[in-house]
Amino acid sequence: PQKIIIDTDPGQDDAVAILLALASPEEIEVLGITAVAGNVPLSLTESNARRICELAGRPDVKVFAGCDRPMGRVLVTAEHVHGETGLNGPVLPDPTMPLQDQHGVDFIIDTLRAEPAGTVTLCPLGPLTNIATAFERAPDIVERVKQIVLMGGAYFEVGNITPAAEFNIYVDPQAADIVFKSGVSIVVMPLDVTHKALVTTPRNDAFRAIGNRVGIAVAEMTDFFERFDKEKYGSEGAPLHDPCVTAYLINTDLFTGRHINVTIETESELTMGMTVADWWGVTDRAPNALFMGDIDADGFFALLHERMARL
Ligand code: BDR
Ligand code: CA
Repeated sequence: PQKIIIDTDPGQDDAVAILLALASPEEIEVLGITAVAGNVPLSLTESNARRICELAGRPDVKVFAGCDRPMGRVLVTAEHVHGETGLNGPVLPDPTMPLQDQHGVDFIIDTLRAEPAGTVTLCPLGPLTNIATAFERAPDIVERVKQIVLMGGAYFEVGNITPAAEFNIYVDPQAADIVFKSGVSIVVMPLDVTHKALVTTPRNDAFRAIGNRVGIAVAEMTDFFERFDKEKYGSEGAPLHDPCVTAYLINTDLFTGRHINVTIETESELTMGMTVADWWGVTDRAPNALFMGDIDADGFFALLHERMARL
């Protein structure tokens, strides 16, 4: 299996991404989960991460708290999408598994130094604060990363938090800039892909019909989470943004995209956090990311339904 660190701000869609990883031990070994401030403040994202591990029956997973605010800006949160707790929808008990003492950034650094170079994949599902802080503090780890597979950004679908920017990149553009300039091989799941990964009513019914705790909780999460996109975009259901990252690790063939240059806007307030993606190759800037554009949504949901039934 591929060794990964999940860096996350749960978030209902983060939760499904984590569940998919934990349901797939043949393909994925989760070395640890680092929480970051994003959808809701850090105290909630770290406890939500533990709630999800317990829901998956995996209280042994190591969960760490990372950075509680972006590198250079005030934290912007998204309770308007995810609810006050970040995980509104199902009633999940308070976690009893421990939070690790070590800081999430130190865990990322130590793990990359301890594991053989080129074997650990980073999976950021929230603002890139923890990853960029680790790269700044320990530049030696950068070349040891196998790859980064992240959810963030947008091109044709432009913004969901401002007209120009996607939430994860907008919250910490400085961190995103560091990551996209790092030279690490990056796979990006932008809104262009995730807005095609919609939990339609039949797909949600199929989660509920699994009948186990996880299937029902996923259905309840998407019931709650879909209001925002239905009202704003008139979409057919909740977009499962973050699970695109863990699905890619299991089956890369579900996604297609292009190797292109992606540069982050860090100066203009109007377009702050925009992922300026050279999809048409109109500049001579070197490609730094595999920017996905399409998804086999039926295949993606078939995978999710099959794996949630295993938990
Ligand atoms: C991203 O922002 C968060 O609200 C979601 O969890 C996802 O990671 C989508 O823009
Ligand atoms: Ca997220």
